Amino acid sequence: MARLRIAVTGKQGQIVKSLSERAGEHQIDVVAVGRPEFDLTDPVSVRRVLIDTSPDAIVNAAAYTAVDRAEKEPELALAVNGAGAGAVAEASDELGVPLVHISTDYVFDGLENRSYVEDDPVAPLSAYGKSKQAGEAAVRENSKNHVILRTSWVYSPFGVNFLKTMLRLAKTRDEISVVDDQRGAPTFALDIADGVIVVIKNLLARPSESRLRGTFHLAAAGETSWAGFAKAVFEASASFGGPVATVKEIPTTHYPTPAPRPANSRLDCSKLLSIHGVALRDWRAPIPQCVARVLAEGE
Ligand SMILES: NC(=O)c1ccc[n+]([C@@H]2O[C@H](COP(=O)([O-])OP(=O)(O)OC[C@H]3O[C@@H](n4cnc5c(N)ncnc54)[C@H](OP(=O)(O)O)[C@@H]3O)[C@@H](O)[C@H]2O)c1
Repeated sequence: MARLRIAVTGKQGQIVKSLSERAGEHQIDVVAVGRPEFDLTDPVSVRRVLIDTSPDAIVNAAAYTAVDRAEKEPELALAVNGAGAGAVAEASDELGVPLVHISTDYVFDGLENRSYVEDDPVAPLSAYGKSKQAGEAAVRENSKNHVILRTSWVYSPFGVNFLKTMLRLAKTRDEISVVDDQRGAPTFALDIADGVIVVIKNLLARPSESRLRGTFHLAAAGETSWAGFAKAVFEASASFGGPVATVKEIPTTHYPTPAPRPANSRLDCSKLLSIHGVALRDWRAPIPQCVARVLAEGE
């Protein structure tokens, strides 16, 4: 069987790098399409590059992800995450190939006291969350063959993320204050990549099965707070002789940010398990592997 060819948007992003790394093992060729030749703010470039790439499937993993900065430039966030996602969806329909679009827990307001299911009403608190909501709507409108995967608290050896920030800060600080009243599941981007690949294989193998399409949640099992995540990072770091800091638990009110975050980011992922057979491992499990790699790579 010919190798699958998947176009993934973005070049340096956590999820695109993870998909590129995991693809070989799954007999897949990943073509990362990104700036400058492919810019989500320029629909003409989006269409041209995707049509030229002629993939078997598309993953829209690129996004404007600067959550706090988006409060100051909401139009740019909306152009990239809303209209940009719509342009990718149009191209996927024109090509007649499935689209996997990555979305976020930040579409919810976090006021529920249980895990969110896919059909819960969205009510984003931030400009970033609103732009991602617009992206979901644009994908639903423009692509007949799509899966929207909402994930949460993404970390990896790549790019900028909470795990890497904690290790960097611990080099110069003995104590770090971390919020303890937002709940969610830190999710390893390489595990997301494996899940995305299974979803794509299902879509390609069983195109007539409409229940494979739609919106799903894909996050690690279990839950913690940002402070709990930081403690697990330092536990792993200590075991490798890496930097360690004491975590001081603080409420969100003591760490004001331009963009409000949902207090509850927990995503119920049972639909993805029952329909696509995908469930990610516990949030704690991949942390040592990621910490070891970040320490070895000297970041
Ligand atoms: N990070 C999280 O905690 C988190 C949580 C939930 C959901 N998500 C979602 O997961 C997805 C991937 O997130 P991530 O953490 O991998 O993101 P990331 O590391 O911040 O990377 C973002 C990617 O988007 C690309 N990009 C930004 N603006 C673009 C534009 N105008 N045109 C083309 N490409 C553009 C970047 O391009 P360059 O390569 O040129 O820099 C980069 O490759 C996003 O949809 C995000 O909303 C993330």
